[in-house]
Amino acid sequence: MSTSATITTSKGNLELPVHSGTVGPDVIDIRKLYGATDMFTYDPGFTSTASCESKITYIDGDQGVLLHRGYPIEQLAEHSNFMEVAYLLLRGELPSKDEYEKFVHTISRHTMVHEQLAMFYRGFRRDAHPMAIMCGVVGALSAFYHDSTDINDPYQRMVASHRMIAKIPTIAAMAYKYSVGQPFLYPDNSLSYTGNFMRMTFGVPAEPYVVDPIVEKAMDRIFILHADHEQNASTSTVRLAGSSGANPFACIAAGIACLWGPAHGGANEAALNMLREIGRPERIKEYVAKAKDKNDPFRLMGFGHRVYKNYDPRAKVMQKTAAEVLERLNVKDPIFDVARELEQIALSDDYFVEKKLYPNVDFYSGIILSAIGFPTTMFTVLFALALTVGWIAQRNEMIEDPNQKIGRPPHHYTGAAQRDYVPVEKR
Ligand code: SDX
Repeated sequence: MSTSATITTSKGNLELPVHSGTVGPDVIDIRKLYGATDMFTYDPGFTSTASCESKITYIDGDQGVLLHRGYPIEQLAEHSNFMEVAYLLLRGELPSKDEYEKFVHTISRHTMVHEQLAMFYRGFRRDAHPMAIMCGVVGALSAFYHDSTDINDPYQRMVASHRMIAKIPTIAAMAYKYSVGQPFLYPDNSLSYTGNFMRMTFGVPAEPYVVDPIVEKAMDRIFILHADHEQNASTSTVRLAGSSGANPFACIAAGIACLWGPAHGGANEAALNMLREIGRPERIKEYVAKAKDKNDPFRLMGFGHRVYKNYDPRAKVMQKTAAEVLERLNVKDPIFDVARELEQIALSDDYFVEKKLYPNVDFYSGIILSAIGFPTTMFTVLFALALTVGWIAQRNEMIEDPNQKIGRPPHHYTGAAQRDYVPVEKR
């Protein structure tokens, strides 16, 4: 359904079409605005601006709803697995048994990386942050796969998609192994996608590695919870990079770089470090006061969200998973108690209630990952591993969108007016 909106400017009234989506807010189509009024809209951070049309994910921030191709995240986390969700995000429908088996077989046959790629790791210091390694190594994939970088060839796009999804766990596990000085393990195609990643990360050549099914299920669920999230900062980065025709590997490397920021994907690492700094429940009030202090830049990491003004549905699943994993591994982590106490205090505090600040996906994830044995520096790497399928799906959707153009937003200029050069002796 389309209606219209009228904007009145010094040049008179301009009627603009309004389009309705399947669900969610209508959009005012402003593509003709500048041509008709010589005026731009101004919206830093795109708080009120839709950058594209998409059919992949929908979030209702007020209701705390997250749908992937229409399916609620809670149902996918409960009944599906990461490979099936990856198929759903890429193809738009849940696969039949045969389609699923073919997809899993295809992905498992792309899990190895070129032997030369392993040399890239040797150039980094052993204490390099794994996200720095991920940015470098994923971008370097462009140098190895020239046969799947033509973005206008659907077959090459599919091959590049499969390669990227299949290799990102191997690259991530290698980043961890390099940081701890252990040898890389090759993929084992007899294992599940997630089980293979667990073995490449925590296994050693000296003995067999047995994947714990409870931990494998928890990790697989964590991957599902991080697989896609509309036009977040990193996905918008991937789309913008892709809009210039950049190859898929370079686009994913750009997304990884953006995800690393502590306000975005780096928040899971920051949230756990914050919980460790708080240390015990009696110190919570001090940190809540800092978070509320306008003059203090400190924010409660793992709290708040641009879209969710209710509970992040992923955080609820994450909290349940944290309890399961801690029990399974018999880990008595006092910061889990700090997290739950902090959550209760914050959710009853007027500041957080008025600003609609709730725990987000990053609040509990670090506790689980730490219990499983990942160092905090690997947390955002795991987020990037899972989100890669969402980045790929969103980039492919952009390329196939007849309305897509190279992204080149104008700006609101408030700098110096034109002036003449002044020779240095006259300054
Ligand atoms: C992710 O986009 C996505 O979908 C991201 C993500 C995904 O799956 O891709 O969901 C993953 O990035 C989750 C968010 C992880 N980041 C953090 O946990 C970092 C802490 N959170 C904040 O930095 C903040 O909440 C953001 C960045 C997440 C959202 O910021 P917005 O939407 O730009 O909101 P804002 O910064 O304008 O905050 C609104 C108000 C401000 O107060 P006022 O200026 O209005 O007085 O709320 C305050 C902020 O100061 N506020 C917080 C707070 N978050 C916001 N105050 C204390 N602690 C916080 N965590």
